[in-house]
Amino acid sequence: MTTTHELGAEQLRSRIAAELARARARTAGLTEAVDDADLLRQHSPIMSPLVWDLAHVGNQEELWLVRDVGGREPVRRDIDDLYDAFKQPRRDRPALPLLPPAEARAYLATVRDKVHDLLDRVPFTDRPLVADGFAFGMIVQHEQQHDETMLATHQLRVGPPALHAPDPPSPRVRVADEVLVPAGEFTMGTSTDPWALDNERPAHPVRLPAYVIDAAPVTNGRYREFIADGGYDDPRWWSEAGWAHRTKAGLTAPMHWRRDGDGWAYQRFGRWSPVRDDEPVVHVCWYEAQAYAAWAGRRLPTEAEWEKAARWDPATGRSRRYPWGDEEPTAEHANLGQRHLWPAPVGAYPAGASPLGVHQLIGDVWEWTSSPFRGHPGFAAFPYREYSEVFFGDDHRVLRGGSFGTDRAACRGTFRNWDYPIRRQIFSGFRCARDARPDESGR
Ligand code: AVJ
Ligand code: FE
Repeated sequence: MTTTHELGAEQLRSRIAAELARARARTAGLTEAVDDADLLRQHSPIMSPLVWDLAHVGNQEELWLVRDVGGREPVRRDIDDLYDAFKQPRRDRPALPLLPPAEARAYLATVRDKVHDLLDRVPFTDRPLVADGFAFGMIVQHEQQHDETMLATHQLRVGPPALHAPDPPSPRVRVADEVLVPAGEFTMGTSTDPWALDNERPAHPVRLPAYVIDAAPVTNGRYREFIADGGYDDPRWWSEAGWAHRTKAGLTAPMHWRRDGDGWAYQRFGRWSPVRDDEPVVHVCWYEAQAYAAWAGRRLPTEAEWEKAARWDPATGRSRRYPWGDEEPTAEHANLGQRHLWPAPVGAYPAGASPLGVHQLIGDVWEWTSSPFRGHPGFAAFPYREYSEVFFGDDHRVLRGGSFGTDRAACRGTFRNWDYPIRRQIFSGFRCARDARPDESGR
């Protein structure tokens, strides 16, 4: 995305309309793929029934755009509490008097009509909520984030396949094992990206010693070696909390894997197939990622290490929006946007590599970092504390880069995701890092 403040108001309006339409088409696809009974069912106690996500998307759009930006009368004030994620724990959502699917769809359509009406009139003043169309961008990203959550719910669904997509591209280049990132300062975060969310701000300098980072995410093939070597049964590799969780939860392999003769098979959106070795591993929790890294004699990268590898341009010293530059992702750059239903093999996106030769940072799998979720120095909650700030602290770990299920509107070099270290229903993988040895760092 070019910065929207460089666009005229009319261009900004049509861009917003296009992004809203793209998000809504995806929401429709995800919720029309199954019948009403399936939409109302809870597929896992940690996920919402799809029909809750659906109406929640409409309710957030009503709250921020219709009521706040537009100053219009509420469409349905009576349902605010039902779709407030903080008032309703996920476990309890199926028992709520939720809008039935047809009513939820009609509600979304009514809200969207009002949004189009106000989009035609709203002046993009300096008011922070509307400057550069921020509130619209936030709502586009919110819908796309819930679409990814709904995609994760689809993966937990039992039954015949409901979603279809072509296979990801094949490997096109051989990728090195690891890449040295030289010591020095880089700019982390952003103060200028108009639709960046509060937790990505502000831009600030970070100085890092030299380090080495994997040129690609850890693959199924590598991860199988960890399993075969007894990694899941050896407390040496696990943190204390990780071992306690692995024991209590009975972890023996990534989620959705089962033994298949001598090898492994995985279930993806209702289809079983043999595990492919050259794809990034997905559906591992932070504790599993950390244990693998320890077994491999490595560690997880910090969030700053991930971002420097993804954004720092050694030729100019500037931080880019994406590893390949500032241009919007295309199908050549990254496996994003549910174009495919699983990660692409390593080497499938040479055009998406960073200048230092780090591949597949954007798309494929969310990558766990070692960092707890905190505000950047100078953080200011905007426009509401519940988007990010209430999650700051040691309970959540940061994930970076987006997955095959992340839309490009909700993914960039500065974008930050977070979750509990036990979670693995998300499309989570990782890559490893290590400190550079003195002989490598050129000092
Ligand atoms: C940023 C993905 C952790 O789904 O909990 C959705 C995004 N915030 N509605 C989440 C979000 C409010 C959030 N994550
Ligand atoms: Fe939400």
